[in-house]
Amino acid sequence: MAKYAIKNVTVIGGGLMGSGIAQVTAQAGQNVTLVEVNADVLKKTEASIATSLARVAKKLYKDKPSDGEKFIAETRGRIKGSTDPVESVKQADLVVEAIIENIDIKHKLFKDLDAAAPPSTLFASNTSSLSIGEIASVTNRKDRFGGLHFFNPVPVMKLLEVIRTPETSEETYQAFMAWGKSIGKVCITCKDTPGFVVNRLLVPYMAEAVRMYERGDASARDIDTAMKLGAGYPMGPFELNDYVGLDTTNFILEGWHKKMPDNPLFEPLESMKKLVSEGKLGMKSGEGYYKYD
Ligand code: CAA
Ligand code: NAD
Repeated sequence: MAKYAIKNVTVIGGGLMGSGIAQVTAQAGQNVTLVEVNADVLKKTEASIATSLARVAKKLYKDKPSDGEKFIAETRGRIKGSTDPVESVKQADLVVEAIIENIDIKHKLFKDLDAAAPPSTLFASNTSSLSIGEIASVTNRKDRFGGLHFFNPVPVMKLLEVIRTPETSEETYQAFMAWGKSIGKVCITCKDTPGFVVNRLLVPYMAEAVRMYERGDASARDIDTAMKLGAGYPMGPFELNDYVGLDTTNFILEGWHKKMPDNPLFEPLESMKKLVSEGKLGMKSGEGYYKYD
C-alpha cells in the first residue's frame, strides 16, 4: 500500500498552467480545489477550462455528444473554486503551485501553506526555471516537496517532469510518479537543475531565434516557417514564445542570467524586454511578437 494516496488536489494559480492542471486532475476523477486571487479571475479560469473541456469532449465523444455533455458536467463538478489559499489546503493530499514565476511571491505563499496544511500533505511547484530546493527551503516539509513540471497546453502535452531534490523522500517521489500516471501523463525524472530537461534545451533555442531576428538575419515569420517546415516543429519559436508567455520566458532568462552571467545563451533579449514592458505578453494578452484577435 502506497504511503500517500492522492484524491484531493489543491491547485494554486489558475492561469495558463493551473487551469490545465486542475482540468486534467478532475478529468481523472480526483477532487480539485482551484485557488485564484479574486472572483473575477476565477470566473475567467472556469471559462477557459470549459472551453478546453469542450475540445476534449468533442474528440472523446464524437459519436455520442450527450455523453460528452455528461463528461463536461461531471469534470467541472469536481473543481471547486476558492480565493483562500490557507483554507484550501486543509483537506489536501497534494498541493500543486502554478502562480507567477517569482521566488519571493512563491516563498510567501508556501510559508503560509506550510503552516496550514496537515503534515501528510505533499507540496509541488510547477516552476519553469526556479530551483525546487530553493522554493522548498521556507517550509518544514522539504522531504515532502518536489517539482511537478507540466507543459502547455496541459490537456494535450503528455509529458510530466518529476523533479526530486536531494531532500525529496523516496515515498514522495514514488507518490508523484504514481499520481502523474493516474492523470494520464508520461513521467520522466530529473534532478533539481536549471530548466530541468525540456526548458534547459528549449529556452536557449527560443532565445537564439530571437537573437537571429534582432540581428536582422531573417524575419520572425520566416524563422517560424523554417523551423516548422524544415525541422518539423509544430510551432515556430516566435509562435511558441507568444504561446508560453513572453513574461515567463523573460523571467526565466533574467533569472538564469543573474545566476550564470557568463553563459551567453541566457542573455536577456532586448525585443522581448520591450514587449513585456509594454504589456505585450503574447497570446494571453492579445499581442506579443504577433497580434491575436
Ligand atoms: N485544450 C484541449 N485541447 C486542446 C487545447 C487545449 N488548450 N489546445 C489544442 N487542443 C487540441 C485540439 O482540440 C486538437 O484536437 P484534435 O486533434 O482532436 O483536433 C489538437 O489539440 C490539436 O490542436 P489544433 O488543431 O488547434 O492545433 P495544432 O495541431 O497546431 O496543435 C498544439 C496545437 C498542440 C499546441 C501544437 O501546436 C503544439 O504541440 N505546439 C507546441 C507546444 C509546446 O511546445 N509546448 C511546450 C511549451 S514549453 C512549456 O510548456 C514549459 C515551460 O515551462 C515554459
Ligand atoms: P499565468 O500568468 O498564466 O498564471 C498565473 C496565475 O497565478 C494568474 O492567474 C494569477 O492571478 C495567479 N496568482 C498569482 N499569485 C497568486 C497567489 N498568490 N495565489 C493564487 N493565484 C495567484 O502563468 P502560467 O503560464 O500559468 O505560469 C504559472 C507557473 O507555471 C510559473 O511558475 C511558470 O513558470 C510555470 N510554467 C509555465 C509554462 C508556460 O508555458 N506558460 C509551462 C510550464 C510551467
